[in-house]
Amino acid sequence: MQTIEKISNLRGEINLWRQQGLKIAFVPTMGNLHQGHIALIEKAKLVADKVVASIFVNPMQFGVNEDIGNYPRTMAEDQQKLVAGGCDILFTPTPQIIYPKGLDKQSYVEVPNVSEGYCGESRPGHFRGVATVVCKLFNIVQPDVACFGLKDYQQVQVIQTMVEDLSMPIEILPVETVREPSGLALSSRNNYLNEAEKKIAPALSENIQWLAQAIKTNKDFIGLAKKAARNIDETGMKTDYIHICHARTLQSASEDDKELVILAAAHCGKARLIDNLIVNLD
Ligand code: PAF
Repeated sequence: MQTIEKISNLRGEINLWRQQGLKIAFVPTMGNLHQGHIALIEKAKLVADKVVASIFVNPMQFGVNEDIGNYPRTMAEDQQKLVAGGCDILFTPTPQIIYPKGLDKQSYVEVPNVSEGYCGESRPGHFRGVATVVCKLFNIVQPDVACFGLKDYQQVQVIQTMVEDLSMPIEILPVETVREPSGLALSSRNNYLNEAEKKIAPALSENIQWLAQAIKTNKDFIGLAKKAARNIDETGMKTDYIHICHARTLQSASEDDKELVILAAAHCGKARLIDNLIVNLD
């Protein structure tokens, strides 16, 4: 695996692949890789001839009160995992390379509707930062396909909408969430959990599962979601939101909707955990 920092060098390598007619898959990440990221690399390898991953801790998607300086950086271990996973090129640009004019003078991508609410409400500006950096990375790599984890369900919808709205010729492949045996979704943020918090954190996915069962026979979506939030809070976590949404628009689900997703986020100690479950009521 080659590790490349400069855009021109990356483009040179990718052009060679393009001349050979090879199909290219892209896996953007912020590093601190776990098995969930490796599942993205494995999926990418299945669908393409060459795999490019990126590690870039994107300052534009962090809020003013979110400490980007403390975001875990584990480049050497990440490189080993990517080599083992079969990644061909790792792109590791600096903030200066991605935002040479600084964040304030940078053009940005705003994806309406699906960016609003849930994590978009709790983390103002977050999805603008995600859409902007993913758009830039797509323009730099120009992949045929890009893989994203479904743990960040709202992010996947934001990126899918951006690709459709801006006619980007890239197929978005969502990849299933990888979980601990306890049901806890794998996340870099799990590193912030202490032993006691690790025991209560699975209550987030348990209550999403409970809610998914409950809505099969009871259409009081709001009342049921409130009960799930109370259950989560009783464990010592603090629910940020738990909501039953239309799976594609992310609008509040109506009684007639069949393709649903339950989106949830909760604070557990220093970690803000997110999770979701797709529910088909047909
Ligand atoms: O999911 C992530 O790790 C990030 O939001 C992404 C897609 C790499 C953009 O910075």
